[in-house]
Amino acid sequence: MATKSGEGFSSSFGAIMAAAGSAVGLGNIWRFPYICGKYGGGAFLLVYICFVFFIGMILMMSEFVIGRRSGEDPMKAYPKLRPDRPGWRFVGLAGLLTCFLILAIYLVISGWTLNYFWESLTGTLAEIADSDFGTHFNAFASSAFRPVLFIALFLALTTLVIIGGVEKGIERVSKLLMPILVVLLLVLCVRSLTLDGASAGIAYLFQPDFSKLTGEGILAALGQALFSLSVGMGVMIVYGSYLPVDDNILKTSVWITVCDFAIAVLSGIAIFPAVFACGQDPTGGPGLVYQVLPVVFNSLGGIGRIFSIVFFLLLSLAALTSAISLLEALTQWLSNEKNGRTKSAVLMSLLVVVLAVAASFSFGDGIWSSFKVGGMQLFDLLDKLTGTILPPVCALLTVLFFGWFMKKEDIIDELSNHGTVKVGYFKVFYYFLVRFVAPAALLIVLISGLIN
Ligand code: TRP
Repeated sequence: MATKSGEGFSSSFGAIMAAAGSAVGLGNIWRFPYICGKYGGGAFLLVYICFVFFIGMILMMSEFVIGRRSGEDPMKAYPKLRPDRPGWRFVGLAGLLTCFLILAIYLVISGWTLNYFWESLTGTLAEIADSDFGTHFNAFASSAFRPVLFIALFLALTTLVIIGGVEKGIERVSKLLMPILVVLLLVLCVRSLTLDGASAGIAYLFQPDFSKLTGEGILAALGQALFSLSVGMGVMIVYGSYLPVDDNILKTSVWITVCDFAIAVLSGIAIFPAVFACGQDPTGGPGLVYQVLPVVFNSLGGIGRIFSIVFFLLLSLAALTSAISLLEALTQWLSNEKNGRTKSAVLMSLLVVVLAVAASFSFGDGIWSSFKVGGMQLFDLLDKLTGTILPPVCALLTVLFFGWFMKKEDIIDELSNHGTVKVGYFKVFYYFLVRFVAPAALLIVLISGLIN
């Protein structure tokens, strides 16, 4: 329990569940399968694995070290470790701003998901004709009242967990939800794999097609690796500040990364074989989950309704543990001696819900769709800022700070728990990755992203 408020995770297992909960989200279940299929399946997967383990994991470890060593929120953590360079606090601030924007857009999509869960439960989805799901989704997402209702509901749940505290709220909920999530996902995988024609979906996902792996695909792989691990915006600095003092940071980072990666691949296995078995289009993009999968579920008959409930529950739970970590970062930053946790969490929720509702109104044909910033609808602007621009910038600065501005002895001391854990291999291998490979890769992504 490293923070001044005395809050923290009670065990390494609890910390792994909470951080894996942050990492596993819409990015794994909805975004990864679609991107992987688009950029060449197995070929993309190979590149993705390298980025996840050599760059994403390095960033996670860096953020954990910065968080635990300083015991502070992202904005105070950098200057605490380098008091002679107070300007670094702006990196923490940029991360927190990114969290705020991601939370707003996450709330919109989570609201959709919760609505689909509700419509699976009540049987509404089962009554819609296959060809009408596109219209159904657009009419719902562009309407004024219903999306806001579900955004509010989802945010209320998130806020309640945060008010519960780090150990009694976040850790407890994550320890409960993450295993449930894995079980639900495995159930869906078994069903999907046993459908007639499932092998075409497996081939789509895993057979390497190097001709589809373009430069754009390689960039997408790095972007997805950062997004999926929730690194590059300071959330893991926050969770790092809650890590138990005897937690082995290297080991914890490996576990979280493996969980996140495995759940992304399992999601692909749950989705694509079913999509192919029902003769649907696998390149549905954002619509895949809300427009294509309901068709798949309906074609399975009565049991399909149960799988639809399971799937949208799974997606809602995954989104919830991610939203929790985002709101926690903002709450930790706002709380001090005067503003307690409850007041800060409620205040942040009220602020972010305004942006989320505005983003929802500006989506598709919504009532504010004609309002544009820089030629883009608000929803698309947020999506672009949080998906491709801000995280790589913050990630680059974080890894530069870690590799070039923190003292090597401090890093080794923190990773080895003051000399009680062996970290010899880290010194040789990872130090090179931290100082040179990761910053160079991030720089390349950024520059090419800006050029495009
Ligand atoms: N990792 C989350 C996902 O896969 C998305 C995400 C990105 C996130 N950055 C985050 C979640 C920061 C929590 C905190 O869906």
